[in-house]
Amino acid sequence: MASAKQQIIESLLVQKELYGDELFRRTLVAEPILNEKKELPGKAEKKISSSPKKIEPLPIVNSSSENDFTEKLAKYYQEICECMECPLGKTRNKFVFGVGNPNARVMLVGEGPGADEDEQGIPFVGRAGQLLTKILEAISFKREEVYIANIVKCRPPGNRTPNPIEIETCIPYLYKQIEIIQPKLILCLGTTAAVSLLKRKESLGAMRNKVHYVGEIKTVVTYHPAALLRNPNWKKDCWADVQFFRKLYDEMYA
Ligand code: URA
Repeated sequence: MASAKQQIIESLLVQKELYGDELFRRTLVAEPILNEKKELPGKAEKKISSSPKKIEPLPIVNSSSENDFTEKLAKYYQEICECMECPLGKTRNKFVFGVGNPNARVMLVGEGPGADEDEQGIPFVGRAGQLLTKILEAISFKREEVYIANIVKCRPPGNRTPNPIEIETCIPYLYKQIEIIQPKLILCLGTTAAVSLLKRKESLGAMRNKVHYVGEIKTVVTYHPAALLRNPNWKKDCWADVQFFRKLYDEMYA
């Protein structure tokens, strides 16, 4: 049987996923914005402090055609992959830029790299990632046809939630990726992704089951796959969310 301490930790993790970071951090993310179409926030025009490290090539970009987006994305990766703008730069092993199709119609956004991702430099490659791949397949998307990125590009030590400063520092990189890829639909995975990208200070429960907008891009919110591993009871709701997401896609492309 789990110890009392373990039970408390599990229960806090469950609450965090249901009610957001209120319990943990009262200051997470800026003031709420109206849930209506809005301009994408400004581009990331950041100066990256360079380090002597060797720049690795962009990990796995699956694209059916070499085109402008592919080139732009690869160039952007080179620009930011040595980022040391926040303390996570010092503790990371690899910078986890994003993976997938630079021409993707669908983009998935998670919270931040875990240990496996930090080791490989690719998002969602651990247990949660395997579940994510299955979720995608269940709604007839191949992992290679979408683009997957995170709110923060470097692993927070011990897999803690990234703090507001780390999020604020890193999120312009995601905005720029969105600007380059121009997805038509975004799926936010978990509270941190949803709260940070939508700038809504609401619980996951309140944000599910609705169409939000990032700029003009339709955006849907569901549970983080890691939360589903901890609490399989949420899989039913996640299934409803991703079917809703697929329906939006089919309405646009079927
Ligand atoms: N969890 C995330 O939010 N992102 C990853 O890349 C892996 C696990």
